[in-house]
Amino acid sequence: MLLGAAPLRAEDGYDLWLRYRLLAPEQAKFYKNRATELIAGSSTPTQSVTRGELLRGLQGLLGRDVPLSDSVTRDNAIIVGTPRSSALIAQLHLDTQHLGHDGYVIRNVVVDGHAATAIVAQEDMGALYGAFHFLRLLETGQAIDHLDLHETPRVKLRVLNHWDYLNGQVERGYAGASIWDWWKLPDWRAPRYTDYARANASIGINGTVLDNVNAGATILTSTYLQKVAALADVFRPYGIRVYLSIRFSSPIEIGGLKTADPLDPQVQAWWQAKADEIYKLIPDFGGFLVKANSEGQPGPEDYQRSHADGANMLANALAPHGGIVMWRAFVYSASNPEDRAKQAYDEFKPLDGRFRANVLVQVKNGPVDFQPREPFHPLFGAMPKTPLMTEFEITKEYLGFATHLVYLGPLFEEVLSADTMAHGKGSMVAKVIDGSLDGHALTGMAGVANIGTDRDWCGSDFNQANWYVFGRLAWNPSLSSRAIAEEWVRMTFSNDQAFVKPVVEMMMGSREAAVDYMTPLGLLHLMGPGHHYGPAPWDASESSADWRPVYYHRANRQGIGFDRSRSGSDAVDQYAAPLAAQFNDLKQTPEQYLLYFHHIGWDYRMRSGHTLWYELVAHYTQGVDDVKRMRQTWLGLHGYIDEQRYEQTAAFLTIQEKEAQWWRDASIGYFQSISGLPLPPAYASPPQSLQYYESLTFPYAPGFSSW
Ligand code: GCU
Repeated sequence: MLLGAAPLRAEDGYDLWLRYRLLAPEQAKFYKNRATELIAGSSTPTQSVTRGELLRGLQGLLGRDVPLSDSVTRDNAIIVGTPRSSALIAQLHLDTQHLGHDGYVIRNVVVDGHAATAIVAQEDMGALYGAFHFLRLLETGQAIDHLDLHETPRVKLRVLNHWDYLNGQVERGYAGASIWDWWKLPDWRAPRYTDYARANASIGINGTVLDNVNAGATILTSTYLQKVAALADVFRPYGIRVYLSIRFSSPIEIGGLKTADPLDPQVQAWWQAKADEIYKLIPDFGGFLVKANSEGQPGPEDYQRSHADGANMLANALAPHGGIVMWRAFVYSASNPEDRAKQAYDEFKPLDGRFRANVLVQVKNGPVDFQPREPFHPLFGAMPKTPLMTEFEITKEYLGFATHLVYLGPLFEEVLSADTMAHGKGSMVAKVIDGSLDGHALTGMAGVANIGTDRDWCGSDFNQANWYVFGRLAWNPSLSSRAIAEEWVRMTFSNDQAFVKPVVEMMMGSREAAVDYMTPLGLLHLMGPGHHYGPAPWDASESSADWRPVYYHRANRQGIGFDRSRSGSDAVDQYAAPLAAQFNDLKQTPEQYLLYFHHIGWDYRMRSGHTLWYELVAHYTQGVDDVKRMRQTWLGLHGYIDEQRYEQTAAFLTIQEKEAQWWRDASIGYFQSISGLPLPPAYASPPQSLQYYESLTFPYAPGFSSW
């Protein structure tokens, strides 16, 4: 019924999920009668943007301007504000104390004898979040007659990490260049910065780290801090704080000191002075993100100090200003012969309780590196005295770059709902992250952004869903990824059920498809060296052993997999006892993690009754079949959305199908060369020789700067 309500004019994706296109006539009429006037203050910048967003959204969705008013003059007004900003809100006497800085209530009320919808918060920011929620209800076609919604975020810091270099490149970025036009800042503040802030605020993101974790010292020079301050000014009304990745050795590089030893008083004084300088420019500066002693970055261990020494030194400098340190646990070293998957835990677990109160340890979702599937990181649940943030990778470094349609909601949900068993059953990762498991008030979730200068921001329309789902889960880690997908599809494309349903199905299956055609059954890290594009399970060219696929799959004539059981690297014992016992036991290990924890024979009998070799081939093939199905689904949806976005998605699915086939064929060709086994009947042989797949090179693959 809704199809064809608005003309299907070409869209380039710039508007994201905030399109505010005219609703179907029936729906628009219904909502019009329930949005007769808007009563919203404008005495602070946040109030102004809240009012502006509601006017813009309602105008777009309903096709007419909703009049502004100071008092209730008729039924069905929309009133937004806080008890302090609005006398009408104050007279409702709602309990807003518990809503905190970001929470809100949306409720149908009676004011001065008139029915109205009130968006009520304790602070301006809550009202802005509430306004976005209200618009979302309209965009997704929800009933708004009996509203009584209460929302407060479960996680305090909801932060994007941009891996952007100051020269405009984005490490692992597949959506063009950096959106920060550093050269023209601070004088030119591109309108895009405001749209970026709007998009983030609409999903509850309240922080952004502007520069890459592989940081240079330049960002901390006065010249660049002025530029950072300009961005902070743009973001402030939207409740977004700015953070910086810092280079630990900055006191040497731009401070003229001989050392960056965190226990050296001169070094400490340098960081304190730097923090003072930053806060003079940016009073609400968020703090620092630090990658130290990892992949060649400098850090406290260069001076025989611990990660806690390093983090605390920075935390001391920021504490007087209310800033925080996000110290990354993504730490491993090529010179350490220990299983790479164990190294972060070994390093950080003993430091539990040794960090200052304003330090969070930021832990990747899995122990290796953002792979299509990994078990959850064993640090979750293992550092009860330390607030742990999780870090997800929204950009699809390991999941097909820009073009593959892979919705990451199920991946994020799988990790958040994993039970660490740290305090017995029910100790989910989500509870570590929201602080409820061990009683932490300082909580956070980080996502490595997939945003660039492409018109559609993310390199494809469907990649926008990954930004969206990250924000929504950071707000509430218990939300279902399916519900979020549906919300996003409705706002981004169409409310037509005939479109929504198959597209949500396609999205929900897409991550498992990618796991199957890339790294099934617990395999991981089999991609091309450096650029990480395409399959290269044979590769042994990387300088460091633990960057080589062969390190991870350990395939030989007898079998395949990394033995992390007690007879192997014993990574299993980094998990709580019941999980350790489960993962240690081949028979009890979930098959999706089988080759992550065990090295087993090619003829090992799987639960299906088939051999491991058979299942491996079957999974690879299944992944390709799933992508074929996704493409068929999309082909059947022509006409529901504008041509421009339809065509690009169709073309990208064709690329994905081709590349899924390539992953399958190259991987099977390689593993067959090791196992020496024939393909199971009915499974096609790779069309090319293994040598062919091995000979492919990819100069200038995006997202990787070391050419
Ligand atoms: C991965 C990624 C790097 C990145 C690193 C990190 O290894 O390939 O580009 O710098 O993670 O998270 O620090």
